[in-house]
This record gives sequence, structure tokens and C-alpha cells, in this order.
Amino acid sequence: MTARRPLRVKRMTWEAPGVVSLDFVALDGAALPAWEAGAHLDLHLPGAPVRQYSLCGDPDDRTTWRIAVREVAGGRVSGLVHKALRVGALVEAEGPRNNFHLSPSPRYLFIAGGIGITPILPMLRAAQRAGAQATLLFCAKRTEEAPFLDTARGLADVTTHCSAEGTRLDVAARLAEVQPGTMVYCCGPEALMTAVEAAAARWPEGSVRFEWFQPKSRPEGEQDGGFDVVCARSGQTVRVDADTSVLAALRDAGLDLVSSCEQGVCGTCECRVLEGEVDHRDSILSASERAANDVMMACVSRAKGARLVLDI
Ligand code: FES
Repeated sequence: MTARRPLRVKRMTWEAPGVVSLDFVALDGAALPAWEAGAHLDLHLPGAPVRQYSLCGDPDDRTTWRIAVREVAGGRVSGLVHKALRVGALVEAEGPRNNFHLSPSPRYLFIAGGIGITPILPMLRAAQRAGAQATLLFCAKRTEEAPFLDTARGLADVTTHCSAEGTRLDVAARLAEVQPGTMVYCCGPEALMTAVEAAAARWPEGSVRFEWFQPKSRPEGEQDGGFDVVCARSGQTVRVDADTSVLAALRDAGLDLVSSCEQGVCGTCECRVLEGEVDHRDSILSASERAANDVMMACVSRAKGARLVLDI
């Protein structure tokens, strides 16, 4: 588990309508832990759920962590950031944690939708520093609503696709042009991510990677069943009813499990699986990691059968 630390808001900058970036520094101004492109912070604000935000500054600047927050209608965390947080305020953050690693490649295609540019920005910087060829397809409603567009243009070959300007991205056609050996990284709204997933369904595993900040939608009318979880270390068996999660059932039974997003997007609650088949419902594990069936995210994933044995 990574440390939770207090940070001070040093700067707030409007990056686009409804999007503000925040620069955090340590209270004593000391260097912050190192991070790599793709990493995120867990932001803890009083009275609000923990939410994940990508670090979108420069990893070489060890004194500052930058995130950007889009105001979402009804969003408690984004509402607090936009309406209550000011320069000088203290916040708590945990991390950095990275589920979206940038693998070395001579050629990258980055696909970002709106605020989904945030994990991509440090990747553009890293690709430029490595001398790799980097192309960014940046989707937004309008050009002026694409945050960090000027910064991105200084780092990569950028094409904007704006629905209100009639230049919407044709995902399937664009991916059909990609040269073999290109690594694709995508972050944005669910419709964009699922379109990229579908268009690249037959590509080699690991060649297309996604960062989800919202849980994927579940099939309509899905019915869950109950099952047992056996805690291998204590031998205790815990019943998980249809309307509860493994994480909640284990906590109700007195087990102390760590979690953060509780939406299957951060990886904090990962448990080792010793027996039983997992119904994976997270947005982190790759197809081969799912098939390996040796870990699960206890906040969202369930059992396919009547029983799971976990290394807890
Ligand atoms: Fe984030 Fe489970 S708490 S994946």
C-alpha cells in the first residue's frame, strides 16, 4: 500500500471550460516520490469518496504533482474541487500508483477523449524524450474544450476530432491504418474506449491499453447469485449474497481489507485467488491476467461458481 500524505495546493489553472488543473507540493517543499507516465493519485477530500486522478505534469519535476479535474454534474469530488478548493488549501493524497504503464516502442498512437488526455500527456513527453514517433488523436466536442491541447501539440503530431465541428473520429477506419508494431494507449469516455476495444479486438494482446476512470457498464438485466468465499489463512468461510460485494461481505465478517475506488478501477483491493473461477468485473486486468485467474478485485469481481478460496 502506498503512503497517504498531506499536500498543499500551490496553483490552480483553468485549462478548458469546466477543467481546472491543480499543482500540489509537499508541506515542507521537499521532493515528492518519483512517478512514471500513466500513474495516478487517490485524492481524499473530507466527506467525499476517494477518486483517482492521473498525474499530468512532468515526472522530472520532483517538487510538484499536477492533476486536472473536470467538473461533473452531481460529482461530489469534482464539485468540491471546483467550488471549495483554493490555492493554499491542504488535501490528502495516496500514491502514486500505476496501472497504465508505457512500454518501450518505436511508434505510438495515443487516443484521448476530453479529460482523458491527462494520463496521455506524460506519455507524449516520455515518447518525445525517447525519440519515438507519437501521434495523438484528440477527441472533444469543440477544439476549445480540449484541455492541454497546446501542450500536446508541442509534444506530438496531434489531430483533433470534434463532434460539434463535424470531424468526429472514425475509430475503426483509423485503427485499420495503424502499422504493425505500434503501441496504442487510450483514455476517454466509455463510448470511445469501447469503440477502440471493439476495433482492436483481434490485435495482439498488450498492443492496445486503456485507462478507465469510471467502471465499465454491466450488461442490462444482469442477475447476480450468492457464493462462499473461503479465507485460506484463517479457514473462515464468508457468504457473499447476491446484493453485496466480496469486499463488503469480508469487511462485515471482520476482515480488514484495504480499498480505494471501490469501482474496479484502481487495483487497491487486489486479492490472490487460490481456488474457484472468478467472474472478473474490474477495468484493470488484461485478458491474459483474467484468464490466469490468480488475482481478483474484491470490490467488484465475483465467483462464477459456488465458492472461491482467497489468500487472505
Ligand atoms: Fe479500487 Fe477495488 S478498490 S479496484
